[in-house]
Amino acid sequence: MNKPFRIAMLGKQGAGKGTQCARISEKFSIPHISTGDMLRQAVKAGTEFGLKAAEYMERGDLVPDEVIIGTVVERLSESDALDRGYLLDGFPRTLAQAKALDTAIDGALKLVVNLDVATEIVLERLSSRRVCEGCGRTYSTSNPPTHGWTCDSCGGEVVQRADDKPEAISRRLALYDELTAPLIGWYDEKGILVTIEGSGDLDIVTSNIVQSIQSVVS
Ligand code: AP5
Ligand code: MG
Repeated sequence: MNKPFRIAMLGKQGAGKGTQCARISEKFSIPHISTGDMLRQAVKAGTEFGLKAAEYMERGDLVPDEVIIGTVVERLSESDALDRGYLLDGFPRTLAQAKALDTAIDGALKLVVNLDVATEIVLERLSSRRVCEGCGRTYSTSNPPTHGWTCDSCGGEVVQRADDKPEAISRRLALYDELTAPLIGWYDEKGILVTIEGSGDLDIVTSNIVQSIQSVVS
């Protein structure tokens, strides 16, 4: 596969971005850059940046553009991303972020995957989701770890995310409609958008994403 592999995944909260990006990143050996995971790590580390971000995240608000843009642009300049490209999960999610990304990488995004899932389905998924505090692996109450709530990958504790409580979920979905959904049309006009139905079987969704990627990155 030729470089650069620069792909972004859009989708509502709970659409399966994290789940699918983990699979795709493993298949193509490409860094999976999740802004949500980066922010949760900063919160866990108790850095000044993390403490500030936690206030926004727990309410279900977006952290300010100027903060997240700088963090992502810095991450994209690390050697793995420069060498292999990347799969962006949860960024961009505002027009300001999309424009900043365009400028930072000189418009070189190859593909934007829009993972489309109905709101009733994401509501159900978010309320049953559980995540590993150690490595971020995602489970659900219907697909739990093998032994209790201990992660199969790293042995970390598997818990409910603070922003998967009902009030924060409503706020996050409202912000998606207002600020992130407009990016679908924006990337479509650039001719780099593909929409994948994300409500079906996990393996089928993965295989449809892989096919779309292979058709543009070869
Ligand atoms: P982030 O962590 O990115 O959260 P999100 O966008 O709300 O998306 P989610 O992680 O909730 O959903 P997902 O699409 O990854 O679904 P998942 O694979 O887990 O961001 C968190 C917060 O950080 C934001 O609210 C904001 O405060 C801040 N932030 C992050 N990025 C930012 C940015 N760019 N700008 C500003 N602020 C930012 O799947 C969900 C569940 O469904 C799981 O249980 C999974 O097992 C299950 N599932 C997935 N696919 C299927 C399937 N096909 N069938 C059945 N179940 C499935
Ligand atoms: Mg996620």
